[in-house]
Amino acid sequence: MKKKIKIGVLISGGGSNLQAIIDGCEKNEIDGQICFVGSDNSDAKGLKRAQKHKIPIFVVDYHSIFRNYHQNISNASIPLDFDLEEIIKKQNLFSSQTPRDKIRQFFEIRAIGENRLLKEMLPYSFDLLVLAGFMRILSPYFIDRINIDHAKPRIMNIHPALLPAFPGADGYGETFRYGCKVGGCTVHFVDYGEDTGPIIAQKSFEIFPDETLDDIRKKGLEIEWQLYPKCIRLFAENRLEIIQNVDSIKSGRKKARTIVKILPKN
Ligand code: GRF
Repeated sequence: MKKKIKIGVLISGGGSNLQAIIDGCEKNEIDGQICFVGSDNSDAKGLKRAQKHKIPIFVVDYHSIFRNYHQNISNASIPLDFDLEEIIKKQNLFSSQTPRDKIRQFFEIRAIGENRLLKEMLPYSFDLLVLAGFMRILSPYFIDRINIDHAKPRIMNIHPALLPAFPGADGYGETFRYGCKVGGCTVHFVDYGEDTGPIIAQKSFEIFPDETLDDIRKKGLEIEWQLYPKCIRLFAENRLEIIQNVDSIKSGRKKARTIVKILPKN
């Protein structure tokens, strides 16, 4: 029998996507097993869902990290292996016009939180890290310590919009306010930007004139619960191939874009 992949999950809220993944694993639709659920806050309702299924949980309280950092900036407990210059070179979140102090504070706080996440995750050997409504940006400090082999990204995220449209925290809200006639969600690997990583799969729905933002969120979540387990299954089946799309150079990019090819089932 094929070995099940080990899946770690990070959440911030209700955890309905986490539930869909738990169900997918329990029904053997995903050849995987969730080995931990972590959260950036202890109020995340999804933690209760994990406990109900006897999945180990942990919390790294980002609010207190922010508070402590700003109360005592000169004495902040920045990880010893944090290299600001290296992070600034890699990151794709701030332009070169952004004040350096702002960038430094942003990445120092992230590194403190991410170092704690990494310590909590250390006891578990996992194949895939799934962000299921985890509302914190992960910096190169964290990403590089998970993606040991750059050709094999292993942090997945689900975003509530059809990327590259509407990255950021409120995908459904922005889709609705823009007056889009179609909305959707995207599953992608995480890279150094905000919701810019290689797209694995997308699913869309129609938006009708009489629908409210709540209707859109409800419709969106329902398709997320179908799409996310499917993508995790593809990962477990080793069917996600990372390739360099050289065609993207013709359209003016300096470097080939990394894209995901879905391999047929053998
Ligand atoms: C989802 O809409 C997801 O796309 C976004 O945050 C929401 C999380 O919902 N990133 P839940 O916690 O899985 O219910």
